[in-house]
Amino acid sequence: MSARPDGVVPRCTVLTFAEMRQRGEPISMVTAHDFSTAQAAEAAGVNAILVGDSLAMVVLGHPTTLQVTMDEMLHHARAVARGARRPLLIGDMPFMSYQADVADAVRNAGRYLQEGSMDAVKLEGGRAYAATAAAIVRAGIPVQGHVGLSPQRVKAMGGFKVQGQTALAALAVLDDAMALEEAGCFSIVLEGLPDRVATLITGRLRIPTIGIGAGSGTSGQVLVMHDLVGITARVPRFVKRYGAVGEALIDAIRAFKDDVTQRTFPGPEHVYPIDDGEYEAFLESVGERRPRATPIRRAR
Ligand code: KIV
Repeated sequence: MSARPDGVVPRCTVLTFAEMRQRGEPISMVTAHDFSTAQAAEAAGVNAILVGDSLAMVVLGHPTTLQVTMDEMLHHARAVARGARRPLLIGDMPFMSYQADVADAVRNAGRYLQEGSMDAVKLEGGRAYAATAAAIVRAGIPVQGHVGLSPQRVKAMGGFKVQGQTALAALAVLDDAMALEEAGCFSIVLEGLPDRVATLITGRLRIPTIGIGAGSGTSGQVLVMHDLVGITARVPRFVKRYGAVGEALIDAIRAFKDDVTQRTFPGPEHVYPIDDGEYEAFLESVGERRPRATPIRRAR
């Protein structure tokens, strides 16, 4: 999504994703869960923002992504949409918003567009959810698939485990990705896969792949904002930290606390004035000053 000759960066759509894939131009995607970080992501020029269900862990403090609900996701999607309109906005379908039945899945995906101002939705799962993805696509809602490590299956996987590390397992992930492409997905997230497997899958698909912990051979990359800017204390091996925002936050808050303790904040530059006469009148009215003598009028 490069700037036009007039300097304007156009809005990114699912067509932009396809065009970038064709041109071999890498696609950048980050998560955002609120207004300010969405503004920052847009200012940085990313192609897509994912309102990820990582919200559960990095914002709401849950141990996994399983605890976040559709209503909570929508609340954050609306905030993100108020902060950014140029990147493609993708709402992540949370656990149990699409697994139980297809009609439910279409309705919840629709809520992301109607109530959350998203442009597209993402759902985890391969061939098992291809029919669900196809039904959502038929309703006119762009779907991004997500295969490989699937955090919503953490209990079934016995932990957050890298996938596709045997020939059979790699074949299953390729099959999942192919099924989602056939279902009409505009893109697929490949998570937690050996880089060679992810590169091969990318080569077999016509739609762009977005990698996370899947090496450099995918059509684009996504990272969780809190990990990349350095808010989360511990990050997985595949994350590159581009900042130390967590430490900067603590330093700034500690400096404020010290200023308050030492009474060095607020300073004269942080206060609002009141006219001297008005203040004197105020003091009189609350009994802090004697009233000024009223001039006596003499009879003529
Ligand atoms: O929820 C999320 O942040 C995600 C990314 C890790 C792809 O699904």
